[in-house]
Amino acid sequence: MILIEALASSRLSGDVLEIASGTGIWTEELLRSAASVTALDSSLEMHERSRSRLMGNPKVRYVVADIYDWVPDMSYDAVTFSFWLSHVPVSKLEDFVSNVSRCLKLGGRVFFADQRREALIHEVMDPPGGEIARRSLINGREFKIIKHFYSSEEIIRCFLQEGININISNTATLFYYASGEKYRAPEKSGPVISP
Ligand SMILES: C[S@@+](CC[C@H](N)C(=O)[O-])C[C@H]1O[C@@H](n2cnc3c(N)ncnc32)[C@H](O)[C@@H]1O
Repeated sequence: MILIEALASSRLSGDVLEIASGTGIWTEELLRSAASVTALDSSLEMHERSRSRLMGNPKVRYVVADIYDWVPDMSYDAVTFSFWLSHVPVSKLEDFVSNVSRCLKLGGRVFFADQRREALIHEVMDPPGGEIARRSLINGREFKIIKHFYSSEEIIRCFLQEGININISNTATLFYYASGEKYRAPEKSGPVISP
């Protein structure tokens, strides 16, 4: 609830890009203020669940793509990616943030929320200090996912390098949320997207 309120107060409007949109929980909230939402996820099944949740809302454009390969086809007024950044390995962080900046208009807004390290209750980092979290189920099955808990300072620095000023707040529980604005063009060159 606090995260949803934080999203609402971060004023994402116009054409919004939602990265790793999943089942559409956040898309539903974004639709309250956005003119359009481009929901990007690598899983067609997630998009189908989202489409059903949102009853085929025509303001949503679904893109099935791996974000690390995706080349944006337009520039956006806002970019959002909740419960995603902690799945980005450090080897891909700079490229990911650079891509976010390149597809964001000057003055465009960013919002994201994620877990803090304290939220890691059911998983263990394997090896400790690495980027893989392992979860063992009672039936003996094991799942491994990339999990990297970036510090607030690391996040702020990385976005600043790409021309995005970010403010981060912790909730009283296990989460944080971040919002910000692109105040200058990224320094590194990349494909230019027309406004
Ligand atoms: C932890 S979920 C977050 C979903 C949603 N944002 C939420 O909070 O409910 C991560 C989502 O990222 C998607 N995903 C994983 N790897 C991806 C990639 N390389 N490119 C795009 N989406 C990816 C998954 O299919 C999944 O829907």
